[in-house]
Amino acid sequence: MTISRRKTLALLGGGTILAASVAGGIFVTTRTPSRALAPWAAAGLESEPRKRALSYAILAPNPHNRQPWLVDLSQDDTVRLFRDKTRDLPHTDPFSRQLTIGLGCFVELMVMAAAQGGHQVDLSYFPEGEDGPVAIATFSEGGSEGGKADPLFAQVMERRSCKEPFDDRSIPASMIPRLAGLADIHTEPAKVAAIRDLTWQAWLTEINTPHTMQESVDLMRFGKSEINANPDGIDLGGAFLESLMLAGVLSREAQADPQSAGFKEGIKIYRNMLMATPAYATITTPENSRIDQIEAGRRWLRLNLTTASLGLALHPVSQALQEFPEMAEHYTRAHTMLAEPGHSVQMLGRLGFGPETNPSPRWPLETRIIHG
Ligand SMILES: Cc1cc2nc3c(=O)[nH]c(=O)nc-3n(C[C@H](O)[C@H](O)[C@H](O)COP(=O)(O)O)c2cc1C
Repeated sequence: MTISRRKTLALLGGGTILAASVAGGIFVTTRTPSRALAPWAAAGLESEPRKRALSYAILAPNPHNRQPWLVDLSQDDTVRLFRDKTRDLPHTDPFSRQLTIGLGCFVELMVMAAAQGGHQVDLSYFPEGEDGPVAIATFSEGGSEGGKADPLFAQVMERRSCKEPFDDRSIPASMIPRLAGLADIHTEPAKVAAIRDLTWQAWLTEINTPHTMQESVDLMRFGKSEINANPDGIDLGGAFLESLMLAGVLSREAQADPQSAGFKEGIKIYRNMLMATPAYATITTPENSRIDQIEAGRRWLRLNLTTASLGLALHPVSQALQEFPEMAEHYTRAHTMLAEPGHSVQMLGRLGFGPETNPSPRWPLETRIIHG
């Protein structure tokens, strides 16, 4: 896999901002956080079937890259998956709905990787209720039902959440049927314009609400050594960004201060990115149970692998779906616009043609195993 040169920088709210003319790629030579990216190179190297599948599952998309998964391998052929509650996002995700969706993405990747290795996985969700494991996964050799490799698995190493402005190109009609089985795809210009405005207003609300903004700032990792030390959260790395840090333009203090030049610049650049969006994808569920959230995550992962296979970029923009009181107006608007009455919008993402981006940091698998 090549690591592409990129001209953007990650900034507020898990997003990115455009750096007009950046001399050099973001992860070049000595500024590459190699330790934090090592799990991408290690995927598939384990020989034990569960660990092999899990080495791929830890590459799943998840909110704020918190990687809230913990596994217990102490029982033979079994993965007991837990949500690591020390990774909760109490301000932007007060009911852990998004974190549960991220765990659904993890489950789907684990099942796909197991199948690719010739194993079937039987799943039982929340067998002990909300406070027990999220899922118990039982691995067995192939069999007639499972253990079949999925063609989408080929995209696992290419999948990204593409936090970049997209090209001014519409999605070819021929691609829509491939996506429409997994999500509602919105391409109609008036609807797209309305969703764009929604995502922008909701993003402004998140960053202008001190407690939600602070949650993101606390999770920002400034530069290679912070990213390697804590390979989660919002990674701000690479030669260009680190030069801004040295110049004092990009700092934890500036990102938390709405009056700072860095914060104001971030708003302009983020707007540019959100506006550069030709289409959206949404995943809705009739109810909003934990299992609905897991299933929404499984679908999102498949959607993201499908976009990768088509050369399309996908970027979750979740602000309008967040359940903190200051967001209520946008939450209601999102649901009126995007879901049937009483249904829940679980995921909303920008869809289009974007540039190649680097893989995001990951904690190594061994740090996510609690027993076994
Ligand atoms: C439920 C969920 C919500 C997310 N919401 C956002 C979001 O609002 N903004 C954003 O930039 N990324 C969002 N993401 C993407 C994560 O930031 C991304 O998955 C993580 O940083 C890892 O990067 P990767 O997907 O490229 O591997 C979300 C992902 C999930 C699963």
